[in-house]
Amino acid sequence: MNDNAQKGPGTPILSIRDLEVTIAEEPETRPILKGLQLDIPKGQTVALLGESGSGKTLAAYSVLGLLPAVASIAKGEILFQGKDLRRMSEGQLRTIRGNKIGMVYQEPSKSLNPLMAVGKQIGETLRLHKNLGRRAAREQVLSLMELVGIPDPRRRYRNLPHQLSGGVKQRVVIAMALACRPELILADEPTSALDTTVQAQIIDLLSRLIHDLRMSVFLISHDMGVVAALADRVAVLKGGIVVEDGPVKEVLKNPAHPYTAALLSGAVHSAKTHVATSVAQIEPTDAACPFARDCKWVTHICRMQTPKPILLAGTLPEQQRLVRCFLHMPKPTTTAKKS
Ligand SMILES: Nc1ncnc2c1ncn2[C@@H]1O[C@H](COP(=O)(O)OP(=O)(O)OP(=O)(O)O)[C@@H](O)[C@H]1O
Ligand SMILES: [Mg+2]
Repeated sequence: MNDNAQKGPGTPILSIRDLEVTIAEEPETRPILKGLQLDIPKGQTVALLGESGSGKTLAAYSVLGLLPAVASIAKGEILFQGKDLRRMSEGQLRTIRGNKIGMVYQEPSKSLNPLMAVGKQIGETLRLHKNLGRRAAREQVLSLMELVGIPDPRRRYRNLPHQLSGGVKQRVVIAMALACRPELILADEPTSALDTTVQAQIIDLLSRLIHDLRMSVFLISHDMGVVAALADRVAVLKGGIVVEDGPVKEVLKNPAHPYTAALLSGAVHSAKTHVATSVAQIEPTDAACPFARDCKWVTHICRMQTPKPILLAGTLPEQQRLVRCFLHMPKPTTTAKKS
């Protein structure tokens, strides 16, 4: 496909199409993402919600071309502003990372150099991508530090990361991600390393920035509260695929997939959610619905295959609700026989 073929006014800023990622584990490879689909419309915050180990960070690394050596992309397209990031050279990706796509990593150590003053670190991003001189970069850094609510920026500028509290450190990380005014922010569990009170403050900050700067955000989280507070849409990841996707308010109020419902009720972690039946059960096949083992509504077909995405509502992409569950399959219409 032509790189620009999908560029247009309604084009999502990021579009992940049928992404398959595997991990090499001798003697075999383990599939992690099995056809991930996700769109981030411009100016929207879209959350990828999933349990620990479900492949959220690998999805983020796929976008940035930063997968660890054991992981590889088997298939799929990752279109950023209509262009496939997978077809870009390392040099081209370097002009995008930190510049057009700002990143808040799950581990703060990935963002911060422990031996460099934090102000200088924020400035490095600007100097690298925006070709700014030292003085101009410093002025911008100070206003960025103010923007993210760091008290006394001139003094904090010179601090090393370990001299800052967890909350201020996370504000520095956010300032770095915003420095070049990127088109998209990729935020991987932006609050999970923080304690509860600080978490709330950082959520408030992100919420204000998303609103004031009209940011487009790819938010990654396992935390329903964070997703509810920040995202416009949510895609629920289970078994390497998105099992439900829709506007946050609607999905949380009225989950369509039994897995989402179980996540919301906290039942996912409390052993199995299904009620044992006396009917002889067959083992789910590899192609089964990823929730077939634990679903209380499971039927024969769920153990054999996963349904294709079913459109529940919405004509515009921002309003669409999709679910992959046989419970929502349209019932076949019966036509009355003519006598
Ligand atoms: N560098 C690596 N080497 C080996 N296995 C890895 C590596 N990175 C990820 N994995 C495996 O890939 C799977 C997905 O990992 P990933 O980090 O994407 O999960 P996650 O959804 O981000 O989890 P969490 O919520 O805990 O951050 C896990 O089973 C993990 O063990
Ligand atoms: Mg992760």
